[in-house]
Formats: sequence, C-alpha cells, structure tokens
Amino acid sequence: MLSCQGINVARMPGVQQTNLNYLLGVRGRLSPRTPTRAPIVDKKPRIDTYGNLRDNRSMMSDKPPTPSQSELPLTYRSIPAQQATFKAGIAAPVHGWFRLTPSFGPDLVRDMLTAMDTAPQDVILDPFSGASTTLIECQQHGLTAYGFEINPLLHFVGQTSLNWALDPADLRRALADIAARYERLDRQTTPADLGTAPLHIPPIHQPFKWWRPDVLKRALIIKHAVQHGDIPAPVRDFFRLALAGVLVPDLSNVTLGRLQLHFIDRSADTIDVWAIFAAHAGRMINDVADLAAAGQRTTSTVFHTDATRPGVSLPHSITRVITSPPYPNRYSYVWNTRPHLYFFDFFDRPVQAANLDKRTIGGTWGTATSILAKGELTPDPPALGAIIGPTADAIRAADNLMANYVVKYFNLVAAQVQAMTPLLAPGARVAYVVGCSRIKGVYVETDTLLGRVFEVLGYRVDGIERFRRRNSGKNLFESIVYAYKP
Ligand SMILES: C[S@@+](CC[C@H](N)C(=O)[O-])C[C@H]1O[C@@H](n2cnc3c(N)ncnc32)[C@H](O)[C@@H]1O
Repeated sequence: MLSCQGINVARMPGVQQTNLNYLLGVRGRLSPRTPTRAPIVDKKPRIDTYGNLRDNRSMMSDKPPTPSQSELPLTYRSIPAQQATFKAGIAAPVHGWFRLTPSFGPDLVRDMLTAMDTAPQDVILDPFSGASTTLIECQQHGLTAYGFEINPLLHFVGQTSLNWALDPADLRRALADIAARYERLDRQTTPADLGTAPLHIPPIHQPFKWWRPDVLKRALIIKHAVQHGDIPAPVRDFFRLALAGVLVPDLSNVTLGRLQLHFIDRSADTIDVWAIFAAHAGRMINDVADLAAAGQRTTSTVFHTDATRPGVSLPHSITRVITSPPYPNRYSYVWNTRPHLYFFDFFDRPVQAANLDKRTIGGTWGTATSILAKGELTPDPPALGAIIGPTADAIRAADNLMANYVVKYFNLVAAQVQAMTPLLAPGARVAYVVGCSRIKGVYVETDTLLGRVFEVLGYRVDGIERFRRRNSGKNLFESIVYAYKP
C-alpha cells in the first residue's frame, strides 16, 4: 500500500505495513452509519493531471510539466476533490456537524494514517486542527489524538465535536425544552425588538448585511433558549455547536460556493430558522446515538493555543502528526469565521479580530495586512533564507506586502515545527497537507519549500505526494509532505 503511493518506506524506521489494516480490522465498522472505507488507492485507468490516460503506476512516475527545482522525491497520485476536501465530510457522521470549507476530508486522514503505518498505540497530533477532522477520524478509530487551534470558534467546534459521552435521551429532552422556550419568545417578540435584551445584536460591522432581521431575531432566540435553560454545560455546548453549524451559510446572507464567504441577496428566500436548526440538531443527536451504540469513546483533546508556542505539556509523546497549515493564499480564517466569533460572544470588539488575524498563519485582512506592508521581513531562523529567499525576492520585485507575507508564512511554519519537535517521540512521522500558490506571477512551490524547511530543522523527508491540482490555476498542486524525526 505504501509503495503504491510512491513513498519511500524503506527510509522510514520501524515500518510494519499491516498496522492500520490491523487497526481497521479489529474495530471493523465504526457503526452502521460509518463504514470503514479502504484507504484511497485508485485502480482504474484515468486521465492524469496532464490530460494523458494513465494507469496508477505510470502516473506516479510522471514528471511535472514545470520541472521542480527540488531534489526531494515527488510523486503524483490524483485524489478526487470529493474525497480529499471538506466535501467528503459533509455527509459523514460528526464531520458534517460544522462545515469549514478549507478542511481536508476524513478519507485523506485515513490515507495518511495508513501511509504512516499507524498502529493502535500511536498518539497523533494535529497542530492546526481547524474543525478537528484529524481528531474526529482518529477518535473513531480509537486512537488517542491531540490538537492545537488558535481560533476560539474553531477550538470550540473541535472540542465540542469530540465529546461523544452525551446521553441521546438527555439531548432529546433538552431539544424539546429549547423548542418550548423558543416558541414562547418567538411569539412575544418582533424584529423591532432587536437590540433589546435578550436579543443583543452581534457587534459585527453591518450586522444586517450578514443576517435578515427576522432571521437574526430567531437565531438569537435559539441562542438565548440554549444558554439560559436548565441545561448542563456539555449539552448546552452541543446545541451551541448545532446552531453554529447552520448559522453560516443556512441562516446568513452568504454562500460558501467559493472558498471565501461572499454575500448574496436572500430577501426572497424562505428561511425557517427553527426547522433548519432542529433538523441539524436531530442529525447530530442521531450520530451521538450511533456512536454510543458502537461503543465509541472520547480520547482526544483540542488545546486553544498558538501552535508556534503551544506552552502545553502532553501526557504522551507524539508518534504521528497529521495536519494542514493554512496555505499561502489570501484566505483569512479570522475573516471567514467572524459571523460566528461575534454571534457567539467570542469577540465583542474589532480589535480582538485584528489581534487574532495578526497571530494566525495564512491570509490576513485589515490592520494585520497594513502592518505586513511595512518594512522588509527577514527569514527566521536565518537558515530559511537559502530556501525561501529566491521566491520572496522574486515576489518583492513586484510587491513588498506579498513578499513579507510569504516570509511570514514560512517563518511561522518553521516556528511551529520547532515548537512541536520536543513533543515528538524519536522516529515520529509527520504528514503536512499544503498547497502551492502563484503570487504576483511567482510560483510558490510550498511542498518542496516545506520539505527543505523540515530538513533544515533536522527532519528527513520521506517523500512528497502531489494528490490534487487546484482549480485556481495550472500546476498548483495540493500535496502531502511526509517526513520523520530521526
Ligand atoms: C487548513 S486549516 C486546518 C483545517 C483542518 N485540517 C480541518 O480539516 O478542519 C488551518 C487551521 O490552522 C489554524 N491556525 C492558523 N495559525 C495557527 C497557529 N499559529 N496556531 C494554531 N492554529 C493556527 C487556523 O485557525 C485554521 O483553523
């Protein structure tokens, strides 16, 4: 299986190729609704990323149309977006509770677990855990996993999605209780009451651009009914997550059709707020019931922390890392989660969003972007200069901000790798999913650059697997960088 993927397993220490198969075989089906799928290995001939009919073996030996400057071992294997991206998670139990468009799919996590020959005793870390795809998938396989996440909304989503120790009967009772309070308050109020207690308008800029007043009123009533009933905290969090799961896009004037949120006119739409919320909450309760029936336990923890300086001590050494840092593009996680951050009271002042945006890896907007436009950021540690210097210099000739942006990106990713290293057991293996970009006409070959960053920081690169060409441009790949810590 590993050799199918072109990863040089011979260079990996202590390889036993049957471990995850053993793991999957032992646990079998997770529940009637969560069939364990085999790792993704395409068997049929198909069109490769360069338009040629290939079988898998020939695809893997393909050379890229623009030869990479890197000496690192590159392989090519196409994985459909339906499997690799958030789309795979939409219908999957638990993964579908909250939709984060830049998430990777649970299939990809299984693929990486297999490629790294993961065994039941392995301990997994995802230092950029997002909506916790990695941790949810690991937990479904009984693996212990930890996550780091800097964004308070995504930390909440991840941690709450991993709490499967809830009694479905309690959840159904609580939902009936929330429904009764919702109905009462909905009858007693009109959109004109927005702004008076308990219907506090989220302090986001231009709230009615985000929500229709009638929809916002009802969404706030659900929030109030969840928060102020006689409901234990974990159950309350469960229903807060259910509301977060439909707040965007179902209840908002936005669509997630493209990667970024963008506004649409929903003035003529029928938006039945309670029905949308109750359907989603009901689906989540069914998932919890299935997980309980399958004997699934909670084994994972997400820390709300900055992965470049996590400051946490873990009870176990990490043996496998599966993660996806933000890509070097303009996507700002903070901008895209602002409706939730304000609606659920994580933030009450714009400066909090700006501060988080400054610390978060990846795209920025507003103040964080203005700061980045000034001066010339240098690679840190200085050894990064030889790796990212030529790319940054080429971009700088056209745009100082974007050159600083790329330097900041690799500086922070290197800082994260350095901060993670003491948490790893010797021989730990890592898999980083990254995307290449084109910035001001300059190709940012993120995968090979990251591979070289790993080498400079004392890791060995097993291989780089390019699995998907991004829609946004030719030769822009998404890849998995596999490395290990000797
Ligand atoms: C590509 S997303 C991860 C998505 C995740 N794989 C999933 O499937 O949901 C990257 C995540 O890194 C987080 N992040 C960015 N900078 C961070 C930092 N310094 N420390 C911890 N998390 C960070 C972002 O908030 C975002 O959730």
